[in-house]
Amino acid sequence: MGKITDALKKAAQERIGRLEKVSHIDEHKGKIIVRKIKDSKVDPRLVPYFDTKSLISEQYKILRTNIVALQKKNPMRTIVMTSSIHSEGKTITSLNLAITLAQATQKPKVLLVDADMRRGRIRKYLGADSHVGLSEILAGNGTLDDAIFQLDVDNLSFISSGQVPANPSELLDSEAMKNLLRDLKGKFDYVLIDTPPIIPVTDAGIVGSMVDGVLMIIEAGRTQRGVVHRAEELLHQSHCKVIGHVLTNIQYHLPQYIYRYL
Ligand SMILES: Nc1ncnc2c1ncn2[C@@H]1O[C@H](COP(=O)(O)OP(=O)(O)OP(=O)(O)O)[C@@H](O)[C@H]1O
Ligand SMILES: [Mg+2]
Repeated sequence: MGKITDALKKAAQERIGRLEKVSHIDEHKGKIIVRKIKDSKVDPRLVPYFDTKSLISEQYKILRTNIVALQKKNPMRTIVMTSSIHSEGKTITSLNLAITLAQATQKPKVLLVDADMRRGRIRKYLGADSHVGLSEILAGNGTLDDAIFQLDVDNLSFISSGQVPANPSELLDSEAMKNLLRDLKGKFDYVLIDTPPIIPVTDAGIVGSMVDGVLMIIEAGRTQRGVVHRAEELLHQSHCKVIGHVLTNIQYHLPQYIYRYL
């Protein structure tokens, strides 16, 4: 199999095709059972949103299992997602993990916060309109209630990044941010926080020091070992606890049937 990027798109497209047909037949009978996924603005790369049983969704379930297992040692309920450099897959991984956590049998309450106030894209990937986000809350120009959006996945909410502020690092490095996290921890079982990469900007280190743990996203075949070491050094200097690594863009060297069970 080639790049997961292509697979992510293909799996979602196939699923969209199937659902489109079903909704067409039902409409013909005058009865709509399946809503038209074709009209959905949710990005097809959010595979667990469209198809919980696909091979790709299974990979995110493995990640969920690992995170749930960590709870046995220490509570790991607020988690920052970062990477060394840009475009390693932080935002897609954050979204897919948040969706997968919310789909767990226990139905935990999950919140995804877009703390990338420079290039925040969660709103775009979800195709959602939200005018108040994290930057407004931290600047005192909006309330938490104005900024929290409920998704159509049960018990999954999100806060978008808001308007790009002049001073993202300073907004994050504030009492307002600490208070917000304390507040959110009381309201949700898991709070996942998507951040910018740690080497070019300090934001992930700031928020990482306020949460239970940091997950490092690493793009296989692109980000070099030395670069990852430098990123981890920066996180360590900021007193962040790295709890694990997620490799993206993996090339499958094992035949696909090994991953199939049903
Ligand atoms: N598991 C994955 N395997 C392969 N490609 C992936 C994976 N997850 C995401 N991608 C691809 O990587 C690219 C960047 O994704 P994404 O926006 O999530 O990265 P990012 O690290 O958040 O970027 P930025 O640093 O700009 O915030 C997209 O084209 C996406 O399709
Ligand atoms: Mg991103």
